Amino acid sequence: MTYDFDTIINRCGTDSMKFDGAAVFGKPADVLPLWVADMDFPAPPQVLDALHSRVTHGIFGYCEPDAAYFDALKNWFTGRFGYEFSRDWVVIAPGVVYALSIALRAFSKRNDAILIQEPVYYPFKEIILLNNRRLIVNELQCNEKYFIDFADFEQKIITNNVKIFILCSPHNPVSRCWTADELREISRICTKHNVLILSDEIHCDFIFDGNTHRVLPALCPHENILLFTAPSKTFNLAGLQLSNVFISNSKLRETFNRHAAKNAHEIPSALGVVACRAAYTHGSEWLAALNDYLWSNYMYLDAFLKTNMPVIRLVPPQATYLAWLDCRALGLSSKQLDRKLTLEAKLWLSPGSIYGASGDGFMRINIACPRTTLETCMERWRKIIFA
Ligand SMILES: Cc1ncc(COP(=O)(O)O)c(C=O)c1O
Repeated sequence: MTYDFDTIINRCGTDSMKFDGAAVFGKPADVLPLWVADMDFPAPPQVLDALHSRVTHGIFGYCEPDAAYFDALKNWFTGRFGYEFSRDWVVIAPGVVYALSIALRAFSKRNDAILIQEPVYYPFKEIILLNNRRLIVNELQCNEKYFIDFADFEQKIITNNVKIFILCSPHNPVSRCWTADELREISRICTKHNVLILSDEIHCDFIFDGNTHRVLPALCPHENILLFTAPSKTFNLAGLQLSNVFISNSKLRETFNRHAAKNAHEIPSALGVVACRAAYTHGSEWLAALNDYLWSNYMYLDAFLKTNMPVIRLVPPQATYLAWLDCRALGLSSKQLDRKLTLEAKLWLSPGSIYGASGDGFMRINIACPRTTLETCMERWRKIIFA
């Protein structure tokens, strides 16, 4: 089957945060949005078919996923990543960030230290601070690509008596697919110091250039790891509000569930369940085609920068559909560059500084769009950069 990722589909007027949110976020109405991490492509046809037939049925009562739902998870996570799990480990939540926040409340107390690696997806920091926990940062180091300063990682854990580490694997926004050795070292240090790992692997299905994603609890089967996944990035289903958390340790699972119950969220979204089951059962061929398309977008972007704007460098893309651009040679802060891009080029990208101070001077572009959209973006940028 062939899939069309080239056609531009008008998303305006669909309650889309990315396309209809300009006024709310103080952006000009005619801005081209390549910021928030959803894609401008429809979900796979098999997912749309499953949703259509469910909608035709017409009754949307409280939902209890069937055995096929868990078979679909097995098909995906055991089949693709060798992660063996039992059905009762799975906790369904409305979203990964929601579930991470529940885990912070369940497994730490007020003022406890929580470790993250900036630059990183900024809601990690937000939920740590909103839950009155202490933010501890192990800065990722950057030469040609990013790497972990493990001495600092361990020292920060010891000095601050860190209770929880939130891992982003693969890492948004620096596009790293962590190697087995790096993940083993993270696990070794956290186990040694009794640190719980919340492993956010939501971007696990976008891996490029010969890299391999390793599901952390498959590689290091310790009971101190909670695995957070979702079909939302992979199949563009974020608005259906469904994620799957895998908790092997029954005590931790009970504690997590008790805290989730306090928020009175126990019943999953009916359409989310339908879409997730269909996606993890039938979606692999579509995903392979999508990843080919995304890689060609990366290659276009890299070539465009090298030819037209060599002052800006694409950090080697190993994972995610979020290109991380090193713009530091322009001599502007991310905020200044963002303002220029918004007002002069009418582009809405993500300034690197929102992911932490070490992201300053970088910009993030969501390349999960038709090639022509990306071309329009880069042409607009090129016109203003030398103006
Ligand atoms: C690392 C990471 N975790 C979680 C999310 C959001 O997950 P959810 O919408 O399920 O809360 C994102 C979205 O971009 C992300 O990049």
